[in-house]
Amino acid sequence: MADTFGATSTIEDVLANVDLRGRRILVTGVSAGIGVETVRALVAHGAKVVGTARNLRKAQAATQHVRAAAAYGGGLELVELDLASLASVRSCANSLVSARVPFDEIIANAGLMAGPKVDTADGFEAQFGTNYLGHFVLVNRIAGLLNPGGRVVMVSSAGHRRAWTTPTSSRVLTASTLHTDAPKRRPSSLQSSSTNVIEPRAFELRPFIRVPSRLKQFRR
Ligand SMILES: NC(=O)c1ccc[n+]([C@@H]2O[C@H](COP(=O)([O-])OP(=O)(O)OC[C@H]3O[C@@H](n4cnc5c(N)ncnc54)[C@H](OP(=O)(O)O)[C@@H]3O)[C@@H](O)[C@H]2O)c1
Repeated sequence: MADTFGATSTIEDVLANVDLRGRRILVTGVSAGIGVETVRALVAHGAKVVGTARNLRKAQAATQHVRAAAAYGGGLELVELDLASLASVRSCANSLVSARVPFDEIIANAGLMAGPKVDTADGFEAQFGTNYLGHFVLVNRIAGLLNPGGRVVMVSSAGHRRAWTTPTSSRVLTASTLHTDAPKRRPSSLQSSSTNVIEPRAFELRPFIRVPSRLKQFRR
């Protein structure tokens, strides 16, 4: 495995000689795009993946080649999850918790961007409600399933770099900014390794959870 990766690295470069047998990974948004390719590579290296999709039929069709690529005992199971509906998020999380099968990684990949102005089922702006709040509730609800040392990966966007160019960004910071930016570039009040935030107050998903009061409603 190479020591460093860059813009031209492929997923095969990253996973070369990596044995994922025995690892269980949850990936959201496996009906299109990056999620499909992520799952293909993971199962080809032996991981057992639970993939979520709001449209299971579409995901089934989109992952035919993924099943064919599975090797070393790797495999894919699909579960329904609409991140734009907190009822769906809670239902999915409850099912996963009931199954009591732990995960080594959660890859929060599903998302949308720059679409028309629509709201989620719960009345939040769709991009924020889906990419951020939906994953917020999901991950907090299933955090107990993460094995010790397990990781939560928030797939985000290089667009976060622009957030620091405006003075107002210090007040309302985007989830992608805080999920992906190097800690040294964050305001000092937000120094932590895994941070979600609305306004300059933070909580950590792991190893402990400190939730601003205005966000507590979403964890129910
Ligand atoms: N591709 C890029 O250049 C780029 C750049 C910046 C950031 N990103 C981020 O990378 C991630 C993957 O992007 P992508 O290019 O693979 O996007 P994509 O091809 O549009 O796929 C997005 C996935 O998210 C799912 N999704 C959307 N809304 C959902 C909801 N309400 N509930 C559950 N699943 C939902 C989609 O399901 P459906 O198939 O049902 O629509 C699809 O499976 C996203 O978080 C995106 O913001 C991508």
